[in-house]
Amino acid sequence: MRIAAVILAAGQGTRMKSSIPKVMFPILGKPMLWHVMRAVEAATNQQPAVVVGYGAKQVQAVFGDRASYIYQPELLGTGDAVRQAVPHLAGKTDLVLVVAGDMPLLSAETLTRLVERQQVFSGTFTMTTALAQDSRGFGRVVRAENGDVRAIVEEAVATPEQLAIREFNVGAYCFRADWLWSALEHIQVSPKGEYYLTDLVEVAVKQGAGVQAIQIDDPAEAIGVNTRVHLAEAGAQLQQRINTAWMLAGVTLVDPRTTYIEPEVQIGLDTTIWPNTSLRGETFLGAENEIGPNTIIQDSRIGARCKIVASVVEEAHLENGVEVGPFAHLRKGAHLADGVHMGNFGEVKNSYLGPGTKMGHFSYIGDATIGVEVNIGAGTITCNYDGVKKSPTHIGDRSFIGSDTMLVAPVQLGEGSRTGAGSVVTKDVPDFALAVGVPARVIRKLEKRE
Ligand code: UD1
Ligand code: CA
Repeated sequence: MRIAAVILAAGQGTRMKSSIPKVMFPILGKPMLWHVMRAVEAATNQQPAVVVGYGAKQVQAVFGDRASYIYQPELLGTGDAVRQAVPHLAGKTDLVLVVAGDMPLLSAETLTRLVERQQVFSGTFTMTTALAQDSRGFGRVVRAENGDVRAIVEEAVATPEQLAIREFNVGAYCFRADWLWSALEHIQVSPKGEYYLTDLVEVAVKQGAGVQAIQIDDPAEAIGVNTRVHLAEAGAQLQQRINTAWMLAGVTLVDPRTTYIEPEVQIGLDTTIWPNTSLRGETFLGAENEIGPNTIIQDSRIGARCKIVASVVEEAHLENGVEVGPFAHLRKGAHLADGVHMGNFGEVKNSYLGPGTKMGHFSYIGDATIGVEVNIGAGTITCNYDGVKKSPTHIGDRSFIGSDTMLVAPVQLGEGSRTGAGSVVTKDVPDFALAVGVPARVIRKLEKRE
């Protein structure tokens, strides 16, 4: 059976009190809509169609050709939103999965089950419901005595008896397409001037056609986001879901409540994450690392057996057995090879530090290439920017940079070279030479160490 997916995302989200379209609010680093899209893609293996309206350009700019877009010119309700899809999808599909864009915790498994149940159902559509205490403003599922679904009643128009119902409409449906296209024409306008998709239950019931409901097992999946309070709840649930999965996969989280792991992060076996740590974006950690406490790693690649304490690592690459922190800042293009030690109050940007190099204290290394087992003394600075352009620094293998050395780039220090404390190096230093002073001059050739 052919299937098409439609995600409803045109609303502003008035209750968010924001100029940002609701579906673009981030949850663990990704827009709400991203999470919905991922589950929908997994359940249908199709590029979804997203109904956009408020902030349409913003949504399209972020998701690009990952989806197709259907514009809803006037926000006249969820029924009207689905009606916009008719000219795009009619005749091209047998089933239509419709999911609200503000339900970021719906799992791929639940949506798959929804589709599978409709595939073998002779009736008009299958909907999803959840049993919960908190209504969150959801529509109530009214059933007949024999259990058949009779109606979905929106909170605003529900009677006190209906308000007491604890079974809610989750906002995910799978329709027989031909029935959907014609049934949409039968939805009556509500007193508020909107067309409710949920009225399709009554349309089907009036026709004597069957509707079935499946219940979600995990009520957390039914957390919809209408306010920023719900946004925080959804974030906490997603955090818990991801953290639990990593713990079961062999990663130790010392304090999962303060550990934030975004959905695209990968972590190797026996890595330990200490409290108050965020792993963001496309970050890949190997095995047996010790990360945190108080660490942020963004879009970075970390090998195995590294130790990173109270530091910020962005767009960096650490090989194996690297030690960082406390209080270090690795920025874009920092590449620390095996066994590098980077201690406190250091910053490295767009630079390579070769295997075994040590920079213990208070240094800035930018646009530099540093060889094997170099010792970078406390307070070393690469003066890489002259106000107009950035220039490179090269430091040869097994060099020893004295404390408080200024390396005025472009500049090259040869293999086995040394600088005196406080020197300002403005000219290249040859292999095995010692340079001292301001500006630094070579005062002595050094013996080659074997
Ligand atoms: C809707 C359901 C409600 C259900 C709840 C669960 C209706 C009438 N009600 O209520 O029964 O319990 O979802 O998720 O459907 N949207 C559009 N165009 C519009 C209006 C809305 O694209 O004109 C989109 C919104 O961007 C949102 C989704 O549809 O992503 C749901 O709309 P929302 O206004 O949040 O509906 P609820 O009041 O939550
Ligand atoms: Ca909603």
